Amino acid sequence: MQIGIDQIGFYTPNKYVDMVDLAHARNEDPNKYLIGIGQSQMSVADQTQDAVSMGINATQSYLSQIDREQVGLLVFGTESGVDQSKSASLFVKSALNLPPEVRTFEVKEACFGMTAGVMIARDYVRLHPHHSAIVIGSDLARYGIATAGEVTQGAGSVSLLIKAQPRILTLNDGHSAFSQDINDFWRPNNSATALVDGKYSTQVYLDFFQRTFTDYQKLKNWQTSDFAALIYHLPFTKMGLKANRLAIANQDEATSSRLAANFTAGAQYGRVVGNIYTASLYLSLLSLLENGSLTDNALVGLFSYGSGAMGEFFSGRTVTDYQKMLNPMATQKLLNRRQKLTIPEYEQIFTTALSDPVDDLILVSDEAKGYWYFSGTKNHIRQYRQK
Ligand code: CAA
Repeated sequence: MQIGIDQIGFYTPNKYVDMVDLAHARNEDPNKYLIGIGQSQMSVADQTQDAVSMGINATQSYLSQIDREQVGLLVFGTESGVDQSKSASLFVKSALNLPPEVRTFEVKEACFGMTAGVMIARDYVRLHPHHSAIVIGSDLARYGIATAGEVTQGAGSVSLLIKAQPRILTLNDGHSAFSQDINDFWRPNNSATALVDGKYSTQVYLDFFQRTFTDYQKLKNWQTSDFAALIYHLPFTKMGLKANRLAIANQDEATSSRLAANFTAGAQYGRVVGNIYTASLYLSLLSLLENGSLTDNALVGLFSYGSGAMGEFFSGRTVTDYQKMLNPMATQKLLNRRQKLTIPEYEQIFTTALSDPVDDLILVSDEAKGYWYFSGTKNHIRQYRQK
């Protein structure tokens, strides 16, 4: 039985910062951000968009096309949790009217959380082939104003429907995982912004990529040249580019140019959205499928990385006519609707969003009709509304 991705939903907030403006404000050469880091824009969430509301918005983009009664599992991967106890997924389940029989919970291991959810969902569907599973990754990457990591911030969510006989990507059996207890990135409980040793995290990411990619090829008895595309968790596109350069070193011309071109296609959305932590790899997948050139049954390799650290390599194959399940024009519309912020506007919005409003204050969202948003707390309970 084939199991895999049948639907992909994506949401990013309605505001962004242009990296040339940010470079000027921080007295940096714009090419450091555009080329050296590889980011052109980053989405910015105001106080009304959090991990939950973004996850609802990503999922509702395909909800009318699925049978809600079939959904038996809902997993929410995030490192931008809104509560120390209650799962973000319960707010989503309630907003989207999913059946009460759904098993639902939140997963955390930095940016690896969504991949953990995808693997759990794959195994769940194998045992329950008449059920489907929703897996959401949703995050706000925040390092702080004028920090080295500022240029690698972002906000957004990707939601996947995993089921039997999927219409986008079948997931192959097997994976290679590698983990180690290290401190390259972390966020203490009392901090809304992350702490990162950026150069160390790049080294570890590249090391984990090489280990897991090599192990995976041995496991499957496949060569680099068998892959139509390799896609990556992209904290910033240069990080993935470095991994891709390692992958294509010493390959024949056809393989290296194919993997280089598909890397660029897979990085197109991440370059303008920024880091969305758990969902970043799956935004790369959407970007590849909507902007790359792949045949039916094309082998796509996926590298997932979560600081702390956990790496995993796995793969999938495109399903015939997968293009019919995608809507690149809608993605473009979502990106183009974003309002460009001046740097002082961004600084003010970013700083306000670091803390929740006082209890009982009702927040008003400037999102378009139909989108969900966080409207404040009542008796310290988070409230979500639809515009
Ligand atoms: N033109 C072109 N390139 C230029 C340039 C110019 N004018 N000026 C500098 N550059 C290049 C540099 O040569 C360098 O390139 P290489 O990396 O190829 O050497 C690049 O631009 C960056 O320059 P610096 O290293 O000097 O930049 P920096 O000190 O400001 O730090 C950074 C950059 C390390 C990426 C920093 O932004 C950072 O720490 N970001 C956060 C990193 C991160 O997200 N880590 C976690 C990864 S995993 C994850 O997502 C976390 C998770 O699991 C939750």
